[in-house]
Amino acid sequence: MSVRKLARRLPSPIYRALRRISHRFFRPRQTQMALPNPGPLLTGVAPRVGAIPGWFNLDDLAHFSLVLSTQTTSGIHGDLLEIGCYHGRSAAVLAMHLQADERLFLADAFDLPLDDPYGDTPTPEQVWQNLANAVPNLPRERVSIKRAYSNNVQLPPDTRVRFAHIDGGHDAATVRADLALCARYLMPGGVMAIDDYAHPQYPGVTEAVNEFLDSQASFHILADLNRSGALGRKLYLARMREAA
Ligand SMILES: C[S@@+](CC[C@H](N)C(=O)[O-])C[C@H]1O[C@@H](n2cnc3c(N)ncnc32)[C@H](O)[C@@H]1O
Repeated sequence: MSVRKLARRLPSPIYRALRRISHRFFRPRQTQMALPNPGPLLTGVAPRVGAIPGWFNLDDLAHFSLVLSTQTTSGIHGDLLEIGCYHGRSAAVLAMHLQADERLFLADAFDLPLDDPYGDTPTPEQVWQNLANAVPNLPRERVSIKRAYSNNVQLPPDTRVRFAHIDGGHDAATVRADLALCARYLMPGGVMAIDDYAHPQYPGVTEAVNEFLDSQASFHILADLNRSGALGRKLYLARMREAA
């Protein structure tokens, strides 16, 4: 078992303290850059999202916000899906972009046994509370939070997803199945973001994504974005829109 997996079994305060220490000493130093006149993303949205535990960072927040808002202004209207919501940090950003008549589907194993378990497991109700705190007036009836392994996730037959975030199990078989699930529901013009692409600790993610791209001609890489201070990248795949 890897050191990372062993560490995940520790009580969460100890796990978080170890992570902070390892980030401090083993992650590349970040240079400071003065940002004059920070806008609402930095001053309003980031503190609400950052109050929820998770790994989703400021770069991810900016990238998700740009993709989701560009879809809305381009008239791409559909559901939002996330596999692996943990406490709801990235899900809160999806929830902020939920438009009228759109639904947000979240799935996580929560307390179900995992080969690579996460400490500090929330309940679906705690995730809802985190979302509701971050997004005032979020309609409860349009948010589904399912406790399930991703290979058991069932979505309503009328689901058409415009944005999916794959951030659940990081082994090749799980990512392969999660890509297939998201691709089944992703509409033309839809985007799926895959976490930890090219991360040296998760070769299965890269393997499954590369296989997927080799076999799916209707998808192309929209963006391959480095994340400041993190090893893996988020890869954004878009399903082509039909020619007019
Ligand atoms: C890295 S965390 C997600 C972080 C979250 N997206 C964020 O940025 O705030 C991964 C989550 O995936 C869940 N998970 C792992 N394997 C899973 C599986 N096979 N099915 C469903 N959920 C899974 C874990 O329980 C954990 O909460």
